[in-house]
Amino acid sequence: MEKRDELYSGKAKSVYKTDDPGLFVLHFRNDTSAFDGTKVEKLMDKGKVNNIFNAFIMKKLEKAGIKTHFVKQLSETESLVKKLDMIPVECVVRNLAAGSICKRYGLPEGQEISPPTFEFFLKNDELHDPMINDYHIASFGWADPAHIEEMKKLTFKVNEVLKGLFEQANMLLVDYKLEFGLSDGELLLGDEFSPDGCRIWDAETRRKMDKDRFRQDLGDVIETYKEVGARLGIDFG
Ligand code: ADP
Ligand code: TMP
Ligand code: ASP
Repeated sequence: MEKRDELYSGKAKSVYKTDDPGLFVLHFRNDTSAFDGTKVEKLMDKGKVNNIFNAFIMKKLEKAGIKTHFVKQLSETESLVKKLDMIPVECVVRNLAAGSICKRYGLPEGQEISPPTFEFFLKNDELHDPMINDYHIASFGWADPAHIEEMKKLTFKVNEVLKGLFEQANMLLVDYKLEFGLSDGELLLGDEFSPDGCRIWDAETRRKMDKDRFRQDLGDVIETYKEVGARLGIDFG
């Protein structure tokens, strides 16, 4: 497999073509962004930590029967993935109230959300990722009704697998965002699962251990990501 031209450079990762038209290389960079790209910084080791973290989680999800784009880790900061036609929506499941749901509905941070709730957002920084519903997705042709249902089912299934994994390591999986795409008509989990795209709290103290450390200037961002990984048994080398 040979890495070829860069296809797209996002806020945190770059996507490269390969000599196989069905495979892409994802390069996890140190660039860190929040608030739709308005707060940006380079954090040492972030690319490496998120790439290794993501590889660990994608393998766990595959083992649990969730089909993903992940093929293999190539280097400290790169992974090989199946090329997907990405569906431009973000799928969010929440176990505890934090972030935008608190502002939107006046919920106190940390309130249990039982049963866990699901939200779709349009992936569009210029529009500030507005919340959308199933009807918008189908009517505007972003995904068909069967794939909409499957995205919800799979996002909840990820919760079944990962909530327990974090709990065993004395952490709470507060919420997370997933992205899906199509490969030969099949829906696969794409993008990444890392502390950049979820909220994780220490189970006892509720200390924030995810990208809220960056958003809220709490410090020790990557040190804390590494601690989350270490508790899960991830070796960052
Ligand atoms: P953003 O685009 O939000 O700034 P990133 O910097 O993480 O995000 O860029 C990675 C981009 O690659 C995202 O737009 C994501 O949707 C896309 N992507 C993730 N996995 C795949 C894949 N398997 N095939 C094609 N595109 C992908
Ligand atoms: P929110 O509380 O800001 O709506 O975010 C919910 C979850 O989704 C949280 O874990 C952060 C994640 N997320 C992203 O990864 N990227 C995004 O662009 C947004 C808006 C949220
Ligand atoms: N990832 C988005 C951004 O970079 C939103 C966020 O995570 O806060 O702006």
